[in-house]
Amino acid sequence: MRQRWPADLVAAATQQADLRRHATAKFPDADRLLFTRAGLEQATTAAVAVHRATRFAEVAGSVLDLCCGIGGDLLAIGRRQHVIGVDRDETTARYAAHNARVGGASASVVVADVHHVRVPSAGAVFVDPARRTATASGGRRGGYSPDLDWCLALPAGRVCIKAAPGIDRALVPHGWETEFVAEGRELKEAALWSPAWATGASRATVLAGGAVHSFVADHDTGPAEVRPPGGYLLDPSPAVTRAGAVADLATALGAWQIDRRIAFLSADHLLASPFGRSLVVEASLPFGLKPLAAELRRLDIGSVDVRRRGLAGDVDELRRRMRLTGSRRATVILTRVVNRPWTFICADPPTT
Ligand SMILES: C[S@@+](CC[C@H](N)C(=O)[O-])C[C@H]1O[C@@H](n2cnc3c(N)ncnc32)[C@H](O)[C@@H]1O
Repeated sequence: MRQRWPADLVAAATQQADLRRHATAKFPDADRLLFTRAGLEQATTAAVAVHRATRFAEVAGSVLDLCCGIGGDLLAIGRRQHVIGVDRDETTARYAAHNARVGGASASVVVADVHHVRVPSAGAVFVDPARRTATASGGRRGGYSPDLDWCLALPAGRVCIKAAPGIDRALVPHGWETEFVAEGRELKEAALWSPAWATGASRATVLAGGAVHSFVADHDTGPAEVRPPGGYLLDPSPAVTRAGAVADLATALGAWQIDRRIAFLSADHLLASPFGRSLVVEASLPFGLKPLAAELRRLDIGSVDVRRRGLAGDVDELRRRMRLTGSRRATVILTRVVNRPWTFICADPPTT
């Protein structure tokens, strides 16, 4: 390529090829799209963007996408209704316009600082502020650019703000809904929906295998019952724990908590739910390395996936000291049961 084309063009093309390879995890149609490295890192994954776009589609008229980046959300919204994207970075905005065009979205993109945009009061606005540092949990008000107070004060009737999943819930004003969204087991974001959209103070949403599972936490639900563990466990999705919806899930599943401060649910029947990982308890014992090693030997366990919940300890050290030789695989959970250090050896439920 370097013999035929200018070096900077070849460098740009190879960078796009590299970014497209990385982008397939977020965008199924990545091979037609254009990315900047920062734009790809900050872009919403297609599944999450599509879910958000379905909520925007409840509202007629066009949408304003402030801070549209390379267009992760712009694409999904623009496939349902017209969207106007704004980004102050010219290359990013051009890529967003290209991505919308090749992605079949109805969109126009403007290069501007969002602080200078006149926001129509009747419309619907989406804003995805940049995070000031790559590692920022976003818990702090100042962790966003434009800052969270500015986003929360947007004068539109319907506003949705994408925030970090670790956001401090105290920063969200009364009347707004905080939707914690997980894709599979991974918590992706907190979407803040303004009062006209809100269905409750918090919502847990899990996107899995093309399906959307979502429920509003009922803050009138008292704490779940705490009882000794039964034969089955459910490790709730982080979307459920962040939404404060563990007790709601316990009620829905006929389950109980094994400790006031641990989110694990338990029951005497299989807890099958898209809102958590289901486990079958093979052994349940107070924490201790020797008894744990003996149980693992008895159960012929040779490899373990160790999870800690509410119990400190070095997992690698523990794995080394187990010296496992068996033929089966298990999940070992180090946790607390009614405030006592506890261990479960668990198997995955049988597949139907
Ligand atoms: C988190 S990214 C948006 C990602 C986008 N939702 C997506 O899925 O691709 C934030 C974008 O905001 C832009 N931005 C930050 N401050 C801005 C401002 N004051 N005016 C306009 N754009 C801004 C950045 O250039 C960046 O592209």
